Amino acid sequence: MPGVIVVGAQWGDEGKGKVVDLLARDADIVVRFGGGNNAGHTLLVGEERTVLHLIPAGVLHQGKICVIANGVVIDPEVLIAELTALRQRGYLTDDACLKISDEAHVILPYHKAIDLARERLRGKGEIGTTGRGIGPTYEDKMARTGIRVVDLLDEAVFREKLERNLEEKNIYLRSILKEPAMEFAAIFDAYRGYADRLRRYVTDTALYLHQAIDAGRRILFEGAQGTMLDVDHGTYPYVTSSNTVAGAVCAGAGVGPGGFEAVVGICKAYTTRVGNGPFPTEERGAIGERLRETGDEFGATTGRPRRCGWFDAVLVRRAARLNGLTGIALTKLDVLTGLDPLRICVAYRARGERFERVPASTRLLEEVVPEYEELPGWTPPLTAARRLEDLPANARRYVARLEELAATPFTMISVGAEREETIILG
Ligand code: IMP
Repeated sequence: MPGVIVVGAQWGDEGKGKVVDLLARDADIVVRFGGGNNAGHTLLVGEERTVLHLIPAGVLHQGKICVIANGVVIDPEVLIAELTALRQRGYLTDDACLKISDEAHVILPYHKAIDLARERLRGKGEIGTTGRGIGPTYEDKMARTGIRVVDLLDEAVFREKLERNLEEKNIYLRSILKEPAMEFAAIFDAYRGYADRLRRYVTDTALYLHQAIDAGRRILFEGAQGTMLDVDHGTYPYVTSSNTVAGAVCAGAGVGPGGFEAVVGICKAYTTRVGNGPFPTEERGAIGERLRETGDEFGATTGRPRRCGWFDAVLVRRAARLNGLTGIALTKLDVLTGLDPLRICVAYRARGERFERVPASTRLLEEVVPEYEELPGWTPPLTAARRLEDLPANARRYVARLEELAATPFTMISVGAEREETIILG
């Protein structure tokens, strides 16, 4: 199949947007297959900064087809705002360039209210969700009470499903979460308006993709979040509510598992995470602060400061296995300039044991102490480097060691936010 999958190899925010934007040059179609507007991809093209939450990062290349497939959960209000802003800047002016799955599930105001209220009730034990209603929407999908895009477009079906759901959600909101009940009419009217605005883009995207594959068109599947936020393989329960690994492409876009051309993992030269949960290599002091400031590590969706720490090879090796990575794009190497020495976590230690794998127990993962290797840093800025040979020797040594530990070839190294601030290796 002429398809390339791009996924995050850490806890999200690895810089997927920039890599997808670069790879989109060679693709005809770019597909989002999971997550929702919990994702935030920041793209810098010239002076123009674009933050995307739902529309695939291929959108900044004219003429590419952007697909929001069935595995995505869609907040129509957010999608319309994003669409309007992009159209005002001259993108997506041709309606045929955006395709939205009729089977994707819709985020409703009660999902957001439940997400936020639950987090408040959890207090110190909160997950640190983005508060966008993602978890409650996936819950309804699995409970078979969700409202899909196709239902939203059919007034009678939407009315019936919304009435039924709201009855139950209002009992839950009032009695358990101690929140006010929600009014049917306001939601119904707003969502009917959204349906009218989005109808023109809605289609059977799985069928569209099959036809595109048959026609030999090149497809880029754009992952959201990161492997360690996967609901099965991440640091449960501090994860998102969907599968974020490469395998999710098949169910999330409706394509078979045969023969993808490449699976590219995006990986920062250090580690970050937003929200709570174990993070073995986190640096809470000056080094963490330095990475946050230099790397501009603030959430694209919520603006929250990201937690920062050293590169964790145990995590990245796991991501390589879980996703079947054929290559890694290493991002933000430039952020490490001036830090000396650099540390790389090669294993964990806890309870008298050494782990070269990520233990499933959240409690144990919270206890582990990283075993670090130290490498010397470098001081010259990296942003002008376009070939590996342009990097200072110590930066090359650092990259080579990461590549060896990740047991996956590096295909790209990003040394700045701009498109051209990139070293292409393979
Ligand atoms: P939710 O997806 O909003 O339910 O949030 C669950 C966890 O995933 C929280 O720790 C969020 O901070 C994290 N998360 C969700 N989406 C992203 C993302 O795109 N990047 C980084 N973290 C994310």
